Amino acid sequence: MIRKMAEGVYNVGAIDWERTLFDEIVSTPQGTSYNAYLILGSEKIALVDTVEPEKVDQLLANLEELGVERIDYIVSNHAEQDHSGAIPILLEKYPGAKVVTNAKCKAFEMDLLHLKDEDFIVIKEGDTLDLGGKTLKFVFTPWVHWPETMTTFLVEDRIAFTCDFFGSHAATTHTFAEQYDRIYHEAKRYYAEIMMPFRQTIGRNIKKIEELEPRIIAPSHGPAYSDPKFIIDAYKEWISEKTKNEALVLYVSMHGSTKKMVDALVDYLGEEGVEVKVRDLVHADMGEIAIDLVDVTTLIIATPTMLAGPHPSAVYAAYLANALRPKVKVVGIMGSYGWGGRTVDILKANLGSLRVELLEPLLIKGLPKDEDYGKIREFAKKIAEKHRELGVMG
Ligand code: FEO
Repeated sequence: MIRKMAEGVYNVGAIDWERTLFDEIVSTPQGTSYNAYLILGSEKIALVDTVEPEKVDQLLANLEELGVERIDYIVSNHAEQDHSGAIPILLEKYPGAKVVTNAKCKAFEMDLLHLKDEDFIVIKEGDTLDLGGKTLKFVFTPWVHWPETMTTFLVEDRIAFTCDFFGSHAATTHTFAEQYDRIYHEAKRYYAEIMMPFRQTIGRNIKKIEELEPRIIAPSHGPAYSDPKFIIDAYKEWISEKTKNEALVLYVSMHGSTKKMVDALVDYLGEEGVEVKVRDLVHADMGEIAIDLVDVTTLIIATPTMLAGPHPSAVYAAYLANALRPKVKVVGIMGSYGWGGRTVDILKANLGSLRVELLEPLLIKGLPKDEDYGKIREFAKKIAEKHRELGVMG
């Protein structure tokens, strides 16, 4: 399906309605898209980014439908294969084409795609490329989310092609975002999974995009934004230090003791005025957990002791939270044990990159007894107190 963005500018990429998992970890319940943008100058023709190789037929069919017989430049904003993977196929189909990208991206693509030195034109930050009435300007936006990522700005039409930056996992026939609630959620999922660890650099890159004063932001996943403020404001909110009055409780329970602790904690937190999100790690969707982590204040990991340590599902959750580096402020570890083990030490080691306050862990022997519920209540009070200190609770 071809989607016109402006005069002589088309999204000729692929829509992936069936994709349910990305990076083999994060669910994509709304599918996704790999946008590739064709820009027709009076002298030259450029294609900005390509598609996941298995969807290249959609891209080739769109180019054929538009009667494209020649591509002069394949601009590559990012070397990851969902955008670059079809470049070798395009170079074969359009032998005169050159890959236009930065030096880092070129090096990655020589490794990842076995492209050759002579396939490239290497550009530097701020360089421009004249297509005849359409000028491309290259703006480096590193670490959104690889070191080589860049934005291509179409000067005359004021369109910023940002690749992954501002993208959403959403398959849609719309050229521009229309269902704002849906796109907000899917863009947040996208941010949570791959952008969140780079919050600091994202702030600098947002500024660079704002300075371009784009009329349209056109990422390479999901719809484009004819109201760039919508997605820029969302990103600013996500990267800010501001968190919500929420505790995320990730738990696993084998025989119900840890679950009883979690149920009590949830009730007590509710009484204390803290909003709670609870996810059973056995059935949880990692994409939704990543979204939760974007702005919760407190993360609680609740696990039984198993094999002398935390349940492996709890280790997985801790490792993921640690890798995503959310702006969580407080972490608590709780659970039930039978006769000992290294549950706390192992979880703490897996959470080592988070700059958080770690609450005194709450481990209870066996099924919680009356006095244990008092300890859980104190645990909840402590969390509420932290939320008050942090100013997230009214
Ligand atoms: Fe959509 Fe980093 O690839």
